[in-house]
Amino acid sequence: MATSSSCSSLKQQFLMFLVVTISSIINSQVNGCFTSIFSFGDSLTDTGNLLEISLSDSTNPPHSAFLPYGRTFFHHPTGRFCDGRLVIDFIAEALGFSFLPPFYGSKSGKWEKFQKGANFAVASATALNSSFLAEQGIHSVSTNISLGVEVNSFKHLLPSLCSSSSNCKELLRNSLIVMGEIGGNDYNHAFMQGKNIENIRQLVPLVVDIISSSINVRIDGCCPCFKLGVDRVRGNDIFGPRKLSYWMLPIFADKISWFRKGSI
Ligand SMILES: *[C@@H]1O[C@H](CO)[C@@H](O)[C@H](O)[C@H]1NC(C)=O
Ligand SMILES: *[C@@H]1O[C@H](CO)[C@@H](O)[C@H](O)[C@H]1NC(C)=O
Repeated sequence: MATSSSCSSLKQQFLMFLVVTISSIINSQVNGCFTSIFSFGDSLTDTGNLLEISLSDSTNPPHSAFLPYGRTFFHHPTGRFCDGRLVIDFIAEALGFSFLPPFYGSKSGKWEKFQKGANFAVASATALNSSFLAEQGIHSVSTNISLGVEVNSFKHLLPSLCSSSSNCKELLRNSLIVMGEIGGNDYNHAFMQGKNIENIRQLVPLVVDIISSSINVRIDGCCPCFKLGVDRVRGNDIFGPRKLSYWMLPIFADKISWFRKGSI
């Protein structure tokens, strides 16, 4: 059983999931340490945001609105790009939480339902913002929400969940914040829109930097809340995202060109 001091130090740690460095420290020791979960990312973590957004602004519903999505576990489509549960669902379950409610869309604004956390991850979201990508000739697909928009939404939600700055600090200290996966779509959209690999390589340091600065974001003057793993993100070690991204891009390019040919 975790002692209260090991419990509280664990609370302050921040779990981070990246494109290729998914690491999990969820185990029985952290059970009971967190009072809420907030998560950010794209389709690998979206528990219904893109679907909710499409319902509220009457754009075409995404594929995740239809079977076989949702078939094996929920037995109906939930907006998850998966037939069952996502990693974030298993994390929530393992920690004794309900599935994370999507923040965006028609049902947003009911703050009380986010008391135990919220999911800001939107399928198709990018790490870099949509206007910057558009300047590079890479256009948003399905949504213009990027990591910065997700983090800003969290900042806007926060005051409705805690009344004073010390209150908010306490809330953040007791929250598990899950970042990612995010960044894959920056490359994905670029490849699908016919950019060459050399152009796409130039995005890698920008994508890595935007993710690491989002992790390091300061909210209301509180300590850098998102901490664990930042040095690893910025670092140059062989399993760091920068090196791994360079290494993975040609493999990704290959798969995408196969996919593009197949879909024609
Ligand atoms: C978009 O991203 C670029 C590059 O990271 C940045 O310079 C710019 O300020 C961002 N714009 C918005 C609206 O966030
Ligand atoms: C995204 O698109 C919507 C609707 O077109 C617009 O209102 C919003 O300002 C855009 N957001 C960003 C971050 O570009």
